[in-house]
Amino acid sequence: MQDPLIVTTSTASYPVVVEAGALTSLPGRLADLGLRGALWLVCDAAVAQAYGEPLAARLRAAGFTVHTHGVPSGEASKCADELWRLYDWMIGGAVERRDAVLALGGGVVGDLAGFAAASVLRGIAVVQLPTTLLSMVDAAVGGKTGVNHALGKNLIGAFHQPRLVLADTAALATLAPRELRAGWAEVVKHGVISDAGLFAELEELAAAHHWDERPLAGWPDQDAELALRLTAIIRRAVAVKVGVVSRDEREQGERITLNYGHTIGHAVEALIGYGALLHGEAVAIGMHAAARIAVAMGLCDEGLLERQRRLLAAYGLAVTMPHGLDPEAVIATTLRDKKVQARRVRWVLPTAIGSVTVRDDVPEDLVREAIALRADA
Ligand code: GLY
Repeated sequence: MQDPLIVTTSTASYPVVVEAGALTSLPGRLADLGLRGALWLVCDAAVAQAYGEPLAARLRAAGFTVHTHGVPSGEASKCADELWRLYDWMIGGAVERRDAVLALGGGVVGDLAGFAAASVLRGIAVVQLPTTLLSMVDAAVGGKTGVNHALGKNLIGAFHQPRLVLADTAALATLAPRELRAGWAEVVKHGVISDAGLFAELEELAAAHHWDERPLAGWPDQDAELALRLTAIIRRAVAVKVGVVSRDEREQGERITLNYGHTIGHAVEALIGYGALLHGEAVAIGMHAAARIAVAMGLCDEGLLERQRRLLAAYGLAVTMPHGLDPEAVIATTLRDKKVQARRVRWVLPTAIGSVTVRDDVPEDLVREAIALRADA
């Protein structure tokens, strides 16, 4: 068992545990944190049977009072109606300030349940229990919570740091192959923005395994070596996020680098409709476009673009823009990004594998060229 990673911000300090089987340690860890009130387990419907029910039983056996609530899978659940259902459930069940919300599932449940915890009774504790690769390496760490508004993603929310994050990598065994692929995009992103060694490890792992064809069924029991290697890589990717949010909790500076690939990615998601493309799939497209812009601006060479494209492809991620998207609409949508300042888009652009810069002087024509990809580009 490894020491947990620790997020330390000016407002909070909490452990982030990345381990196969980590969920079994939850009752003891909650007790260690002094969380002895009732537990409000919010669970993605897709993992309720496999992980939610056994977890609730384990917590009850350890003496906790556990209330459970299922949330339909998918981005559409990050909405005011689902949020109000959580309030009705908790307030109707006499939630108290010493209680804690447990968010079990992917980024949707983490953001939704996290925001309910941030706001009910002016804030109660939340513990993030990510079961998707994407939420393990990104969404569950760093305290961003919220729901979507009809005019844009994540426009209503709050920073609410969890008391604990437990990423049980064994849960990846039952993750749909497409969800796993989408998660790799954020792992690759962390390599590009700040860890060249992680990027190289991903290249080596890609050479040894074909992720697009070989989901992790039977894992980790049937392949202990792969389990260790993959868990170590995920932990390394999580460490990038832990470092960034510890240094810049409120996105005053460095945290914006986590937005690499998201400017175009969010625009593409918004234009083709949330859910048509998974978030990670859109981020892969966005990273490719951002790297093309960086090449055109002379910030990095073609080699980086090609290395990144090959790595994304090795994990089953396409980088071409979806058919039928109007490039002008994409450009207009980037201007509604939350990171826009004084009507200038702040682009995160790579300068080398492991290093990025932030620029607000990208000419629109370069963006136009970067997103006008042929299907084979
Ligand atoms: N997902 C980006 C961030 O947490 O800042």
